Amino acid sequence: MCGIVGYISNHCVKSDLIKGLKKLEYRGYDSVGIALFDVNQNIKVLKNSGQIKDFISKYKNDTSDGHLGIGHTRWATHGVPSDNNSHPIFDQNETIALVHNGIIENYLDIKKELIDEGFKFKTDTDTECISNLISYYKNKNKDTLRSIKLTFQKIKGHAVVAIISKEDPGKIFGFKKGLAGSLRIGLSSNKISIASDLETIKSTSEKYISIDNKEIFVATLEDVLVISKDKKIEKEWISIDEKSETISKNNFDFFIEKEIHEQPEVFLSNFQNRVNFSSKEIDFSKELKGLNLDEIKRINLFGMGTSYYACLLASYWLEQISKIPTQCHNASEFTYRNPLVEENTLAISVSQSGETADTLSAANLIKEMKIPQIAITNTNNSELEKVTKNCINIGAKTEIGVASTKTFTATLEIFLLFAMYLAQKRNPGYPKTKIFQELKSMPSQIERILDNTKHIVDLAKLYSKYDNFLFLGRGYNYPVAMEAALKLKELSYVHAEGYPAGEMKHGPISLIDSKMPVFCIITEGSHRDKMISNIREVKSRNGKVIVLTNCSEKLDKSWYDDIIIFEKTEDLLSPFLSSVSIQIFAVNLALARNLDIDKPRNLAKSVTVE
Ligand code: F6R
Repeated sequence: MCGIVGYISNHCVKSDLIKGLKKLEYRGYDSVGIALFDVNQNIKVLKNSGQIKDFISKYKNDTSDGHLGIGHTRWATHGVPSDNNSHPIFDQNETIALVHNGIIENYLDIKKELIDEGFKFKTDTDTECISNLISYYKNKNKDTLRSIKLTFQKIKGHAVVAIISKEDPGKIFGFKKGLAGSLRIGLSSNKISIASDLETIKSTSEKYISIDNKEIFVATLEDVLVISKDKKIEKEWISIDEKSETISKNNFDFFIEKEIHEQPEVFLSNFQNRVNFSSKEIDFSKELKGLNLDEIKRINLFGMGTSYYACLLASYWLEQISKIPTQCHNASEFTYRNPLVEENTLAISVSQSGETADTLSAANLIKEMKIPQIAITNTNNSELEKVTKNCINIGAKTEIGVASTKTFTATLEIFLLFAMYLAQKRNPGYPKTKIFQELKSMPSQIERILDNTKHIVDLAKLYSKYDNFLFLGRGYNYPVAMEAALKLKELSYVHAEGYPAGEMKHGPISLIDSKMPVFCIITEGSHRDKMISNIREVKSRNGKVIVLTNCSEKLDKSWYDDIIIFEKTEDLLSPFLSSVSIQIFAVNLALARNLDIDKPRNLAKSVTVE
C-alpha cells in the first residue's frame, strides 16, 4: 500500500527514482510523483494520477533533475486519485515536500487546529497535515529535525514518511510510526537509497538498515543518523549478498500468467532441505531453531485474504495429519475481540508480503501474550518476522501479479509439509507412504494442467458474459472454493461467492437461476456423494453447473453443463490441482473481459493499512 523511494547521490537521481517506482508499483498504482532538489536548490515536484507509464509520457520533455529526490506510488486512502492528491505533498509554503504511507487517524483535528492558525490546505489527503504541521513547528523553532520530532509525537495512527526541506539540501529526513510497512535505507560508496522494500535498493546498495517503529532518521550521502526516544541509536548494517532478482515476463503477456506457470518449479524447490523422500521424513528444525514444539497442544492460524484461505485449508491438514486441534482466525477480527488464547498454543501468522497491517496487529497481540509464534512469508527479514522471530519462507520468489497465485500454493505446500513434520512425533501412523508418493509427483501433475489449458481457457471465454458465480465445495474443497471466488472477484470484477456446499440450502440456493453459474468442486474423498446431491439440487432449479473434479466417472453427464477434469491424487493433495485449474479459469475470464490482470483496480499487493 503506497511505495516510497528516495536517493541521494553525487549524480542525478531522476532515472533512479523512476526505476525504483517501477519496482514498487505493486504497492499501489493510482498515482505517482517525485520531488527533486533541482540545480537551483528549489524543490521541483512532478506528479500525476495514473500509473508510472502515464507519468513518463506526461513528463517526457521535462529536463529537471537533481542529486537528491523522493518518490511515491500511491494507493489512495484519503482523497480520490487525482494529480492534486498525488504525493509528494507540499506544506503551504512549498518549502517541505513529503511522501507518506499509512493513515493519520487524528488528521481532522490537526487540520482544524492548523486552519485556525491560518494554514491553507490544498489537497484532500491526511498527509498534508504532516507537511503543514512540520511547517508550523518550523516557523516557531527554525529547526527541521526538531519540528519533525514534534510532528511525530503529535500525529496518531500509522505513518512511514520521507521528507525533504528546501533549507536542508543534501538531506532526506523520515520516520516510521505504527504499522505502515517497511522502510529500508541502503548505503554504497556514492549513493543512499531509500525504499519500501529491499528488492528496490539491492542494485544500488552494499548494505542496509531497516527503520523500525518509533524511529526518526536523517540521511546524507555520508551517514544515516537514526534516533529513537530522542537518542541516537546504532543500527546493525546488514550486507546485501544476494543479487537482485531479474524480473521479466519471459514469453508471457502478463506477470500473473508467468507466475502461475512457475508453480511446479516453486513446489519442487520447497522440497529442498526439508523433504527426504528416502527416509520419508520432513525437517523444519533448522528453520525453527530454538522453538520447542513438543508441548504444543493447540495451533492458532492468522491471515487475511488469500493467506487466510491458506490457513483455512491448513487447519484441516493440521488436525487430520498431525492431530493437533487447530483454529483459523481472520487476523483483523481477532485483534479487536479481546481474544483468549490458552497456554501451550502455537500461533502461525501468514502473510506473503510480511507487511499486512491486520496480520501484524494480531501477531503483536500474540507476542504480548507470550505465545510462541511462527511467520510464514515470502519476504526475508519482513516486518512480520521481526515480531514472530521464527519464520518459514515459502520460496516463491517475487510475485508481481497483485492477485496471489504461486504464493497461495507455496504457502499451502509449506503448511502441508509442516503438518507432516508435526505428525512424525504426534501421529506417526498417518498414511505417510501414499502421501510421500503423491507429493513427489505433484510438480509434474501441476505441470500437466499448465500444458493443457485450452479447455479451461475456452470455458472461461464462454462464461465471461456471466456476472455472478457461486463456488461450492466440502472438506478440503471448501477453502479452495473460497479462494476461487476471491480470485474471480479480484481479477474480473465479477460477483462471486464461495460457500461450504452444505450451506447452500440455508439461503444461497435462492440465488440460483440460469444466470448464475455454480462451480462445484467434487473430489473422490471429500464427501463426493453429498456433493452429487448438491449439483442435482442446483440443476433442478435451472442453475448452470460447472464441475471441477477428479472423479468424472462417477458423475452422469446430465447432471452438469460443463466439466473440468484434473488427475486423481490423495484427496488431501487435490487442492493443489483444483486451485491451479481455477487460477487459469479466473485469469482467462478476466482476459476475455479485457482487463489488466496484473494490476486489478483498487487493489495493492501489500496492504499496510488496517
Ligand atoms: C488475494 C490477495 C489478498 C492478500 C491479502 C493478504 O489475491 O492478494 O487477498 O492475500 O491482502 O496479503 P498478505 O498475504 O501479503 O498478508
